[in-house]
Amino acid sequence: MAEAAKANTAAVSLSEVRSELEHVAEACGFDVHRLQVSFERSDFNLRTEVAEVTDALLIDIIAIAKRHLENWRIHTFEKSFLSIQALNESLFSTEGLLDKIKIRVSGLYGEKALEITKKGALSPAELSMVTAILRRALGKTAAKDALGELADMGCHIFRPSDALPGIAAFKRLRERLRETLVLPLKNPEIYDRIARETRSEFAVNRPRAVLFTGPPGTGKTTMARQVGKEAGLVVVHVPLETILSAYYGESTKRLAGIFDVAMTYRDPLILFLDEIDALAPSRNEKLFEASRRLLSVLLRKIDGLETLGNIITVGATNRLQDLDAALLSRFDTILEFNDPAEDDIRELLAYYARQLDADSTKKLAEQLTGLSVRAIRDICLRAERSLAREQIEKSTGAQGAAGGAIAAPVGAPAAPGGVPAAPTLEYYLRTLSEYRTSRLQDT
Ligand SMILES: Nc1ncnc2c1ncn2[C@@H]1O[C@H](COP(=O)(O)OP(=O)(O)O)[C@@H](O)[C@H]1O
Ligand SMILES: [Mg+2]
Repeated sequence: MAEAAKANTAAVSLSEVRSELEHVAEACGFDVHRLQVSFERSDFNLRTEVAEVTDALLIDIIAIAKRHLENWRIHTFEKSFLSIQALNESLFSTEGLLDKIKIRVSGLYGEKALEITKKGALSPAELSMVTAILRRALGKTAAKDALGELADMGCHIFRPSDALPGIAAFKRLRERLRETLVLPLKNPEIYDRIARETRSEFAVNRPRAVLFTGPPGTGKTTMARQVGKEAGLVVVHVPLETILSAYYGESTKRLAGIFDVAMTYRDPLILFLDEIDALAPSRNEKLFEASRRLLSVLLRKIDGLETLGNIITVGATNRLQDLDAALLSRFDTILEFNDPAEDDIRELLAYYARQLDADSTKKLAEQLTGLSVRAIRDICLRAERSLAREQIEKSTGAQGAAGGAIAAPVGAPAAPGGVPAAPTLEYYLRTLSEYRTSRLQDT
């Protein structure tokens, strides 16, 4: 989007740069006063001591630079010394080269220092690289611990190897998810190769930020995890609502920190900003101020990710209409999630209630239209539980009369007293009507 692209190149104000870097130092338990940040003649200069200049640190900084800079070179890389230089679009042009961003880490001659300089102000992307490097240099944890740190900050980490709840139905939506997210995430080099053919100036053609929108219970969170699994990537689930309320007062710092740490992770990952409507402006004036500040951090952080697409942001919202226009403009693609149509419901029933015959499935599906996938799943589970209770009551009742043993004897029929082995249509219909009544009482 043109607006997003413009925002991406706009420089970040000096005070914002300073406060962001100080936040990073603070989060790393580093004395903020020992961080030297200057803007002489609006040239940026960051200098700080680091605890130790190890090979691992130098390699991690190279990895972070690689993810953020398109054209760059390692000027020097020796034991305890690294110097990186950003280059021009045309790699042979030396014009203005000295003005570009430079990173230098030195552990030579008793020095242990990180220095980053640039003639002129930083773009959001450059600032996010600088914060990621600073965090890595000051933090005691290596990049491979980034996921552990994110978990400590209130995120849930889903690895591709983790078990997932099963999914069914929604063929078209799943196909779109595959096209827009899974394929580009799995084959970035193919997309990049095409972009190099088509553009006079290289620009990433893969989606960087995708928004899932739809009412509660329509499968947004589930599908984000599923995409990660299919693409073989870690999903960092950021439950904004929880983070904002649990860390009220320091939530701006916390949110910025999550992005910074995610950026130090070695591999591509999916940053899933769930319940993004938590940022919708509130009518309460004090909260209004807080949510504006948060929003501005979020916008800048998303812009900062817009480089080589190592991190893809997926947002989810129940209230698209309440979302801030600037935030909305950051998303390349919006995917709508809806309640299942009748054929989807039949497929969900084939998944959640496979014992039902075609006729019962059809009858039940008709009754379930207008409900969300979560509601349908809940009703199926409740029907199973009510049947289980009935079976237990029947069997303990029978046992009780026979001598008080609760456990059914080995070899006893699964369904004593004429209770069915699996819920029949009647169980689901009864549960549905109970569900509707409880819903009515809720509202
Ligand atoms: N395609 C699907 N097939 C089966 N169950 C699903 C599917 N999508 C979601 N569910 C179930 O529905 C419930 C609600 O989904 P969730 O992803 O939490 O919705 P949302 O994030 O939109 O509120 C979850 O328990 C999930 O297991
Ligand atoms: Mg959800």
